[in-house]
Amino acid sequence: MVEPQPILEPLTPAAIFLVATIDEGGEQTVRDLLADLPGLRRSIGFRMPGAGLVCNTSIGSQAWDRLFDGPRPAELHVLPEFVGDHHRAPSTPGDLLFHIKSEFQDICFELAMTLGDRLAGAVTIVDQTVGFRYFEQRDLLGFVDGTENPEGNAAIAAALIGDEDPDFRGGSYVVVQKYLHTMAEWRALSIEEQERVIGRTKLDDFELSDEDKPANSHVAVNTLLDEDGNERQIVRANMPFGSVRDGEFGTYYIAYAATPSVTEEMLSRMFVGTEDAAYDRILDFSIAITGTLFFTPPTDFFEDLPAAPAAARESSAPEMVRGNDSGSLGIGTLKRSRT
Ligand code: HEM
Repeated sequence: MVEPQPILEPLTPAAIFLVATIDEGGEQTVRDLLADLPGLRRSIGFRMPGAGLVCNTSIGSQAWDRLFDGPRPAELHVLPEFVGDHHRAPSTPGDLLFHIKSEFQDICFELAMTLGDRLAGAVTIVDQTVGFRYFEQRDLLGFVDGTENPEGNAAIAAALIGDEDPDFRGGSYVVVQKYLHTMAEWRALSIEEQERVIGRTKLDDFELSDEDKPANSHVAVNTLLDEDGNERQIVRANMPFGSVRDGEFGTYYIAYAATPSVTEEMLSRMFVGTEDAAYDRILDFSIAITGTLFFTPPTDFFEDLPAAPAAARESSAPEMVRGNDSGSLGIGTLKRSRT
């Protein structure tokens, strides 16, 4: 049975998000790292029982064809930008996304450092964001974030690819965006006005009634229904981040979905608007500075990577690569590459 990466696990107190682009000629180093990833995570994670170290790894559209031969995930593409009359969501480069999370920051950092060492010279890390839990899973706007995520079977249906793309069953599509909040303007609003921006109460996190919830509130804009009236959902794992020195106070938005069309429709409603709302009012206090779509393969994908593209195979003699179970001393079994 296909084993998805643990994208449905609950939020943790600590996370590091790394986005990298692959440098020209860096493809083989990246392939070697991807094949070793399960073993690296085990080696580091096993040293700290209870830390629950996870490294959900995803691959961007342009990188896919540089790394692999054979079928592509059916809906993998470069995220479009969303440009409205008032706000804009950019599309920014990214070939690899490492969503590292755990109960503790030190072990997240250990894994991030190891990935950096292994990929040195082959990739450019274009973003590193350190996320943290803020009180009761609140964002830096002070609202509890994540409450209406689907649970159980609904979460599986929302996030994981099924029979619609049999080659990639158990995979997912993930969109990340970094948002910076304009805190002074936000704090100038009364609590009641902030609640009308989000669509929920601030202290106890209850949804506002339909009469009290404005059409341009964040919750109203992001409640999507299909023709049959069923909710179209995504699984979010947002984390706050910030820098007092740089005056940056942000939300790292990250959401997994079985099809990127759901997240993209939400982004279109937020930025370009709906019949009832010119745009999502949260955007008056949140500026999107990055935006990238990736595919998150199931776990066994890494255990048996597809062959490298034909052009890469022809230009390189058969090489020796380290096995999947190389330990922290870097001593792996030598075996012939599958490529
Ligand atoms: C500035 C960045 C963002 C912040 C601070 C934020 C915060 C929140 C908060 C506080 C809630 C209400 C509690 C909850 O159910 O989680 C919420 C709900 C939600 N957000 Fe966001 N969000 C952000 C960006 C986005 C984006 C970019 C999307 C989609 C593309 C999105 C989709 C949703 C959805 C689907 C819900 C649940 C709506 C419902 O069914 O009640 N959010 N968000």
